[in-house]
Amino acid sequence: MQLPKKGLPKADIFEHLAALRSDDLKWQDGRAFGYIFDPGQEIMEVGKAAYAMYLSENGLDFTVFKSLMRLEKELAALMATHLGGDGDVVGNFASGGTESIMLAVKAARDYFRCHRPEIKAPEMILPTTGHAAFHKAAHYLDVRVVPVRVDPHTFRADPTAVRRAVGPDTIMIVGSAPSYAHGVVDPIAEMAAIARENDLWCHTDACMGGFLLPYFKRLGATVADFDFTVPGVSSISVDLHKYAYCPKGASIVLYRNKTLRKPQIFACSHWVGYTIVNNAVQSSKSGGPMAAAWAVLHFVGDDGYLEIARRKREAVAKIAAGIQAIDGLRLMTAPDMTLVSFTADEVDVFAIIDEMHRRGWYIQPALAYDNSPAHIHLSIGASNVGREEQFLIDLAASVGAAREVKPGPLRQMLEPVLDSLDPEKLSDADIEGMLAMAGIGGGSSLPERTAEINAVLNLLPPAVREKLLTAYVNNLFVQD
Ligand SMILES: Cc1ncc(COP(=O)(O)O)c(C=O)c1O
Repeated sequence: MQLPKKGLPKADIFEHLAALRSDDLKWQDGRAFGYIFDPGQEIMEVGKAAYAMYLSENGLDFTVFKSLMRLEKELAALMATHLGGDGDVVGNFASGGTESIMLAVKAARDYFRCHRPEIKAPEMILPTTGHAAFHKAAHYLDVRVVPVRVDPHTFRADPTAVRRAVGPDTIMIVGSAPSYAHGVVDPIAEMAAIARENDLWCHTDACMGGFLLPYFKRLGATVADFDFTVPGVSSISVDLHKYAYCPKGASIVLYRNKTLRKPQIFACSHWVGYTIVNNAVQSSKSGGPMAAAWAVLHFVGDDGYLEIARRKREAVAKIAAGIQAIDGLRLMTAPDMTLVSFTADEVDVFAIIDEMHRRGWYIQPALAYDNSPAHIHLSIGASNVGREEQFLIDLAASVGAAREVKPGPLRQMLEPVLDSLDPEKLSDADIEGMLAMAGIGGGSSLPERTAEINAVLNLLPPAVREKLLTAYVNNLFVQD
């Protein structure tokens, strides 16, 4: 591929960019229950305008772009107050939940390197419901994940299992508020108490709920304590680009005090160019996301967010009750917030998802893992409010249609040989063969219907899934 010799007319460029989106997920009509947090046109316009206004400012150097330092400090202070912090709580802006989590894990790791140098192979205790971003952070930062099973009915972390997992190399315990998959808040107070007894770091992952849960509490919901009011909570990640409806690229990582935050900061003078002092992973970065976040938070205001939370809470109650009333479906557990998970014992959940896609809805598949069966996930947001009735009608019809779907050939072939599959022994050729059998081998195109692929992945051990997905994506991103 080559650049055009002469620049293209502006109109052609925007026509092309608009046309490229024609195959994308259609989220504008409130029928997507994931990926997009759509607050409606007016709020979005405010975010976009502020984003464009600060697009060129560079967060690389906040001593030069003082506006960005002010915005970052104010955003961190707002979230510190929102999450029960006192005047000692400090924080920084990050590009998303993953970056906030990466920073908190780095801070914890380096804090322990300094204070407990005898720990050579640090470990993080992570309930199986903890977000994949912790596995990613652990992988990047060479921390070992010690997984702990959650309660099979509530899907909350089990403090007894957490306590049992503490060992000489443990540095950190992680809890979620709420967990992504099942939408429940872990018993953070008990987990933080275990951390305190053992002089460990306790991180609350409130990427999803940190902004919204305080509003749910004010509306009368029972929400277990998860924030800085809980003694022993060392750090919290809270995303603004989720239920605070700020444009993407906006998260805050908070620490109980400056001492804990210090190892997050990276300074480098071992080279010949400008001195680097980074608060986050990114170095050069647009001021757009920060300004947009500040603008949206101040435009919507506290009353506005409370009202949005009230509407969402009602929608969740309607949808959860409606799911329970559909023959064949079962809620995995009662949701604490706006994340709803449900499954079907006798119908293929992935076929239900494909049927819903055909009816214009996006709902998300989740593969079976440990004691959590394959299920369907909904992140219910402001734009879904008012669509509950039609959603439930289409869901019931999709369950009916999915009952007729028969398992494909690969699934039938794989089932008898599953036990003999050893992830370590699978060669690249084996993996390519499996992709070909699933109908997604070699080429760089995306499949139309995904039920069969998900059903096959669901049968495989997680390590084999990871190998297949890696090979698949490696095939996908090549020159067309
Ligand atoms: C609980 C939780 N933590 C972390 C993340 C990661 O956030 P991001 O996708 O912004 O990196 C998510 C994303 O959904 C989440 O739900």
